[in-house]
Parts: sequence; structure tokens; C-alpha cells
Amino acid sequence: MLKFLTMESTCDETAAAIITEDLQVLGEVVASQESLHRRFQGVVPEVAARQHVQAILPVIDLALRKAKCDPQDLTAVAVANTPGLAGSLLVGLCAAKSLAWAWDLPLIAINHLHAHVYACRVAAGVEVFPCVGFIVSGGHSNFYRCDDPLTFQYLGGTIDDAAGEAFDKVAAMLGLEFPGGPAISRVAMRGNPRAYDYPRPFTHRDDPLKFSFSGLKTAVRYSLYGQGRPTIDPTQLDPQQVADVAASFQQAAIDCLVSKCCQAIRETGLRTLCVGGGVAANRLFRSQLELAMKQLDATLWIAPPELCTDNAVMGAIAVEKYRAGRFESLDLDIFPGLER
Ligand code: KG4
Ligand code: ZN
Repeated sequence: MLKFLTMESTCDETAAAIITEDLQVLGEVVASQESLHRRFQGVVPEVAARQHVQAILPVIDLALRKAKCDPQDLTAVAVANTPGLAGSLLVGLCAAKSLAWAWDLPLIAINHLHAHVYACRVAAGVEVFPCVGFIVSGGHSNFYRCDDPLTFQYLGGTIDDAAGEAFDKVAAMLGLEFPGGPAISRVAMRGNPRAYDYPRPFTHRDDPLKFSFSGLKTAVRYSLYGQGRPTIDPTQLDPQQVADVAASFQQAAIDCLVSKCCQAIRETGLRTLCVGGGVAANRLFRSQLELAMKQLDATLWIAPPELCTDNAVMGAIAVEKYRAGRFESLDLDIFPGLER
């Protein structure tokens, strides 16, 4: 049985997993930095990179121990080297290269966005390709045509902020904690999603396959503080208003996401949608998307919430690369920028 060590350190999670060729997860660890970045209301790249340095070897060690696996049992080492924060990516890549060299194993490069889609394949336990792949996370809101597990053709995405970024920024405006997605969905349960009529750009039938969340963010800000500089602190906001704004914002964002998923299915003619990324952990989004895909008679795969946020299990896409003979030399570099 072939066994792969997969590693993830693109943003603020340090993760490692041991995965077999038939996609069984023998052991996995995710060390989250959420609490470290909370007081900054967002990920601070330098802080993230330093924390990865501290965490990476213990995380790998623990994943191996959980899997009851020795380095000599491994077939290859795989690491996400694009896209992400440069300092964070470098830590993972250096660790992976060092281990591949020390243990004399082949090195495999993982595209973090493709891996988010592949999380659906791991969770499904059956073939999901060809499909439309949709990554909706803190850094991306991208659609891909995925004819097979290693062919990703960019179809469209956001022209400004990613959906998760909008959740994080709106949460900060509301005085809620980072990361904003879970905080907003919690507070929104007590709010009225129709209290505020926020914009839903690009949701008309003939619009391109694009998102824009910056106007939605501005609309939220104006509804809370008016135009100009805020004169009150978020902690002074009325709790019911916070809940109503959170619920109305969440609904507007979800309406955009669901509308574009339907469009991607209609336009590509593909019958399967695979969704990954942190925002896909949102319960309301999941249930509304499920309903919409049912109406289109399309198959929907969304990984369980713990495989939507960053993890190393989704790095199982390395198994596909191994089969295709796609290995890297120890010259492999990071590619922080958005890859389409
Ligand atoms: O995929 P991920 O863990 O990291 C990136 O690659 O960006 O996504 C993190 C993003 C954050 O913006 C976070 O607020 C959002 O996912 N998120 C959510 C939820 N859980 C996490 N957004 C909405 N609802 C959630 N339940
Ligand atoms: Zn991610």
C-alpha cells in the first residue's frame, strides 16, 4: 500500500496528513493559528510564517505517529507551493524538500486551490470528475472547469474581494471576532435576513461569471455608520442591529454565491459541482446550494466543514500526480500569486 505525506502551510494553518493510494486517511493534524491572529482581525503574514516554523516539524511528527507510520513506509512527500502567503509557503516547501532529500523520496507539488476541490473527491469516496470546481475561501472565489483531477481551467471569479474576506471585514465592522465567517453565521441566527436590502452584483441572468463583494462591504459600512468616519465604536452597536446586519449581509453574499454556481452549471453543461474552501463550511450556504442544485438536477459535493477550511487531507490530490508521474526537483519554488 503506497503512503503519502501531504503538507499544507499556505496561510495560517500548519497541517500534515498520511494518506494511502486509495485515499484512506491514516493520520492527520491541523494546527490552527486563529487565536494568534484574532487581535489583528486578520492574518499577519510575518506572524503566520514564524508560527509555521514552530509548528511544522511537531505537526508532521504527530501525523506520522497517529498513522503509526515510519518515514521508511512513505512513498512520496507532497506540499502546497501555490498560491498563498510567501513566508508561509516557504516554510512548508523548505520542510518538504528537506524531508524528501533526507528520506530519499520523490517530491510532489500541490496547488492549494485544486486541493480544495479534491477534498470533495476524498470525502465522496467515489469519482466526482468531470465537474465544476468552486473554491470559496478567505483568499479566493474561483470557478474551474475540471475535466479530470489534474485539469483545471479557470472560468471566472471575483473582481475584487474574496467571499471569505468580505465575511472577515464585515465581522470586524460589527465588532465580531476573527475569523468572521463562523462569527457572522452564529450571530445571524438571531437576525432578520430581510432587514437590510444589500446589493447582489452580477446576479442577473446575462451577467458574466463574476463576483464583486467590495460594494456589499461598503453598503454594510454605510448602514452601520453612515458615510465618512465612524463616530461610534462597534462595541456600542445595538445587538439586534448587529444580528440583522449579519443576517442580511450573509444572505446577500450567499445569494451571489448560489446564483453563480447555478450559472456555472448551466453554462458548462457539466452535471456535477464540487465546492471547497472555508466559506463552504457555512451551513446556510450549504443548504441553499443543495436546494438550488436539486432544482437543476445536478450533483453537489461539498466536503464536511473540517475539510472545507485549510487541511492536509485535501493534499491527497498528490496521489493523482504520483500516478501521472508528475514529480518535482529539489529546485521547486513557491508561487504566491493567484494562479488561474
Ligand atoms: O479555506 P480557508 O480555511 O483559508 C483560505 O484558503 O483562505 O478559508 C478561510 C475563510 C475565512 O475568510 C473565514 O471567515 C471563512 O473561510 N469561513 C466561513 C465560515 N467558516 C470559515 N465563512 C462563512 N461561514 C462560515 N461558517
Ligand atoms: Zn484554503
